Amino acid sequence: MELNKFIDQLPIPLVIKPRKNSQNNPYVVRMVQTRHRFHKNLPKTKVWAYEGKVPGPTIEVEKDQPIYVKWENKLPKKHFLPVDTTIHGAMDSPEVRTVVHLHGSSSRPASDGHPEAWFTRNFRQTGAEFVTKTYEYSNRERATALWYHDHTLGITRLNVYAGLAGLYLIRDEEEKALPLPKGEYELPLIVQDKSFNTDGSLFYPSQPSNPPPDLPFPSIVDGFFGDVMVVNGKAWPFFEVEPRKYRFRILNASNSRAYLFQFSNSQSFFLIGTDGGLLERPIEVQSLQVSSAERIDIIVDFSKQPGETIILQNRFELGNPIGDVMAFRVTKPLKENDHSQVPPILSKIDPIPLTEVKKVRHLTLTETQDKYGRPMLLLDGKEWDAPVTETPLLDSVEIWELENKTESGHPIHLHLVNFLVLDRRDSNGKLKERLPTDFGLKDTVTVNALETVRIIMRFEPYAGKYVWHCHKLEHEDHDMMRPLTIRKPDDQ
Ligand code: C2O
Ligand code: CU
Repeated sequence: MELNKFIDQLPIPLVIKPRKNSQNNPYVVRMVQTRHRFHKNLPKTKVWAYEGKVPGPTIEVEKDQPIYVKWENKLPKKHFLPVDTTIHGAMDSPEVRTVVHLHGSSSRPASDGHPEAWFTRNFRQTGAEFVTKTYEYSNRERATALWYHDHTLGITRLNVYAGLAGLYLIRDEEEKALPLPKGEYELPLIVQDKSFNTDGSLFYPSQPSNPPPDLPFPSIVDGFFGDVMVVNGKAWPFFEVEPRKYRFRILNASNSRAYLFQFSNSQSFFLIGTDGGLLERPIEVQSLQVSSAERIDIIVDFSKQPGETIILQNRFELGNPIGDVMAFRVTKPLKENDHSQVPPILSKIDPIPLTEVKKVRHLTLTETQDKYGRPMLLLDGKEWDAPVTETPLLDSVEIWELENKTESGHPIHLHLVNFLVLDRRDSNGKLKERLPTDFGLKDTVTVNALETVRIIMRFEPYAGKYVWHCHKLEHEDHDMMRPLTIRKPDDQ
């Protein structure tokens, strides 16, 4: 379907407020089926949405002030996207399952949104109208942009594609003291690729629901690549800006697509933060690679382009290439002089001393075939349900060497921890240049084709059951996800 670009204005997701006067003042977030207009010329599209919004409302909190979120499943009984019944977990319940993970948070296991912690509306068992889960988020992380999204075993790609994703901002005093662009000059950009049928419904490639056992059927592991760019829920939006500096909090919430972001006039911009918060110093760049689930915090200066239109573009030609993402029109008059700055020193990131390393794990990313002869991707040669092998000791430091033996990139994410990227090597063991984002704290790192990336982290502050996985959701669902169990010294 042909949709004209830069017709709709960029929406800014609402910031949700907690409910007062009930115990713990929880935020209440309902998952509902509703209709959402992605483009002026598209009929409204059936979506699943947190609080009826695509993307979900933004949760904004202060560091070290814990909150509770009551997640309510008010979704219909059946999925409206094609479920592949042959993959792990897909048939665990005949009813729609959901669970929410706060990506990048260090939550207790009971609040982490483990893929097997899913819940349904539970019509039959309890007769209840819906069921809920209340999770506690400690907000002990540095100021940064986290995001919440569905994480249900075997259908994560479908639930997120249906609309279940939203932003979660943590603020702290250190960040507030910096002269960064603030208020209306700081915007989230949640980037996703989608495809639409002519009636406006979401298109997702289908698999037969009851595949004949002897016939090959489509594979999901090539990933999903849509042909429409959606930012904050609108297709190819535009945004009017003043000739001054802006701070953009970009989240790649796409199922599989990685972007190489650049501006149409090739102007440079500053990377000031990554998944785990501010960098120590800004890095001036002309383009940035951002894979699924990664966040970048950037400052862009439009002061030299009054009157112009500058397109945020994607220079990666993967899948079904999409060039234009959204437009910035520098058409607003400058309200007042721009006193914001790109400070030369932003923050301090504590190093993790190599002398503390307790264990080095060599873990491969490989492609194989499933029992139907379809391609399947694995972490360290093991499927999801093989016995747990990554069992670091609580508080211990480990290095993981992630060796990608495949021809495509994999954004690898660990729950609970942030890590530092030590280095990248090619398949001959030769050191490669690091990416700008490798200089920040990360929770997701892309291991590009045939690369080995070494990361270092301390497994704290909780023991228990978590996961690590590729964040291309089609890979994660089949079968690029493994348990990660953090042990206490006495439970070895
Ligand atoms: Cu963003 Cu395990 O997920
Ligand atoms: Cu992958």
